[in-house]
Amino acid sequence: MNYKIYNEHLVDFIADSPTPFHAVNNMQQSLDEAGFQHLKEKDKWELKAGSGYYVTRNDSSIIAFIFGAQPTKETGIRLVGGHTDSPCLKIKPNPDVYKKSYYQLGVEVYGGVLLGSWFDRDLSIAGKVVYKRAGGGPHESLIDLKRAVGTIPSLAIHLNREANTSHSINAQTDILPVLNKCGDTKEELKTVLAKELASQLPLTPDLGAISILDYDLYFYDTQKPSIMGLKEDFLSSARLDNLLSCFAGLQALLASDKEVTSILACYDHEEVGSVSAIGANGAFLESLLDRLYSEPEEKSRIIAQSILVSTDNAHGIHPNFPDKHDQNHAPIINEGLVIKVNANQRYTTNCSTSSFFKNLCKEANIPTQCFVSRSDMSCGSTIGPITAANIGIKAIDIGVPTFAMHSIRELAGTDDAYYLFQLLSAFLDTKKLPLA
Ligand code: CO
Repeated sequence: MNYKIYNEHLVDFIADSPTPFHAVNNMQQSLDEAGFQHLKEKDKWELKAGSGYYVTRNDSSIIAFIFGAQPTKETGIRLVGGHTDSPCLKIKPNPDVYKKSYYQLGVEVYGGVLLGSWFDRDLSIAGKVVYKRAGGGPHESLIDLKRAVGTIPSLAIHLNREANTSHSINAQTDILPVLNKCGDTKEELKTVLAKELASQLPLTPDLGAISILDYDLYFYDTQKPSIMGLKEDFLSSARLDNLLSCFAGLQALLASDKEVTSILACYDHEEVGSVSAIGANGAFLESLLDRLYSEPEEKSRIIAQSILVSTDNAHGIHPNFPDKHDQNHAPIINEGLVIKVNANQRYTTNCSTSSFFKNLCKEANIPTQCFVSRSDMSCGSTIGPITAANIGIKAIDIGVPTFAMHSIRELAGTDDAYYLFQLLSAFLDTKKLPLA
């Protein structure tokens, strides 16, 4: 896949993936088309060497893998990790709010949202809905309203003269999206959802009306991602952190030669700390490894010669705020993949894994840069340290330089996005034992 087509497919993937459920669903479709087999955790598995498989949890975390043609105890595993979730606004269980003749929905803040960026956007709603119809058990369905159905209007500057100097945002009172002006009949979200589902599903009249049991629903921006800038240098989009990495990992896995065992793990719940049955700090990956290698000594020997590339976005140095970076560790957009280093183990990189990675990049003609947080600022983290600690695997943290991380509209580079795909492809196909 060439550079231009790759980036076009990337923005289409992000546009079609407003929630982790949709991202995983889209990844499943690509894997199905490529002949990967969907394994259910409740079933007995019969795996064939040289074949591809995937497993999901909650429809929002996915682990896809190639059970290599060569014995894993001789090759080790190439593991790529990322996350499917992004900071956003989640709709509350009893959401309907009526205030001053307006219909609004109550929301909870999911993860570290840059709240200011959510104002004055054309928002839609997507996620998963559980429903039933008379005579039928509960069914689950993904839903995406697609059209703009709400907005969080800013307060006019005339009513808040401090808006540009000292403005704080209250997450309970200031960010409820407005959906419409109430008439005589008051809207209810569950009724809206039932109507929407009825219009999407092939209706069998004898089953009766749809009743919504519950949902996990999120607001998202309807503005499509774009490839922009005077020279089309930039990807401007929601959820670049971290669907950009999920897409790169998926494309690399699909393009790999299936010789050696490769695993792509894309988790939900990274933005809220990863502690859940489906998050990186749950037992999803460990449970999979136990099923692939049931003999403990064999498993330990395999892990000892395996390596994890944890892929998540990095902070590019911002020309308006250059002092926010250490000047010797300040990545620039489109100048290459970023190796992330942190003495306090917020990133997993050590000198051995970074040397292995730099060598891979050099062989593939991919430039690299290095990020270390300013020593007087705290540092973010990724699924890297959690995964490395839980299974005892050597690891490195990398990513593409990004502006406005956790904004509703983030910015990354088209060159870097393609570098990530090229690097992960080279990594998944490398036959050299990494650091055994
Ligand atoms: Co991230």
